[in-house]
Amino acid sequence: MKLTLHIWRQPTPQATGRMVTYPVDHIAPDMSFLELLDVLNESLIAKGEEPVAFDHDCREGICGSCAMMINGQAHGPERGATTCQLHMRSFRDGDEIYVEPWRAAAFPVLRDLVCDRTSFERVIQAGGYVAVNTGGTPDGNALPVPKPDAERAMDAASCIGCGACVAACPNASAMLFVAAKVGHLASLPQGRTERTERVVAMVSAHDREGFGHCTNIGECEAVCPKSIRLGTIALMNRDFIKASWSQRAEPVKNESA
Ligand code: SF4
Ligand code: FES
Repeated sequence: MKLTLHIWRQPTPQATGRMVTYPVDHIAPDMSFLELLDVLNESLIAKGEEPVAFDHDCREGICGSCAMMINGQAHGPERGATTCQLHMRSFRDGDEIYVEPWRAAAFPVLRDLVCDRTSFERVIQAGGYVAVNTGGTPDGNALPVPKPDAERAMDAASCIGCGACVAACPNASAMLFVAAKVGHLASLPQGRTERTERVVAMVSAHDREGFGHCTNIGECEAVCPKSIRLGTIALMNRDFIKASWSQRAEPVKNESA
């Protein structure tokens, strides 16, 4: 296949970036999109030019690091797939492909296609864990979990923290990501003890990081490589409202007592 790539190049976070055009040839349809970038980078290095910087690690849809917009779509045109799982057979010979980094104030561009997603880490640090001692690994039958709860927890736990939901959202909201983390732990007995504090802490951290609010547009669900459902946000909102009510309902202390 012969393709024309238009790639965002930006040497430093402060520099003004621009799209640069690169023709590429002899691309096999079974190559992954990251392999296409590898081929391009090898040719750039051979010519003494700077290779295109992009994030990647597992190359099998697990780590969530291969974040990039491809022709305006987060992770490209294949549904339920990350960029590393996208194959060149999804494109046609002669296509022009535009490749850009995630665009969101909470994900500043570091270099070319690499952006800083440590804002996600800080949201997790605010409460995306179980702090109480839950003991050793329990026997499978000792802690019964209803099947629907187990399914819901597993679905939510499949979030890989890639940030595509933020990149696709016109409000740059990370609500799908936060809801997946909150929903995963809220569905299991081990996570329920801190359920109220967790949802308030994580939503507050989300807002502090500069992510926008969810307005039910649904772009996040459409691009999520792990098919996290929009309903996950509804469950988180329910928990958040209940937590706010319970905080308001705190008994007023009698100062004279
Ligand atoms: S919810 Fe989906 S799109 Fe968002 S970070 Fe998790 S896996 Fe990525
Ligand atoms: S490189 Fe790990 S999900 Fe793509």
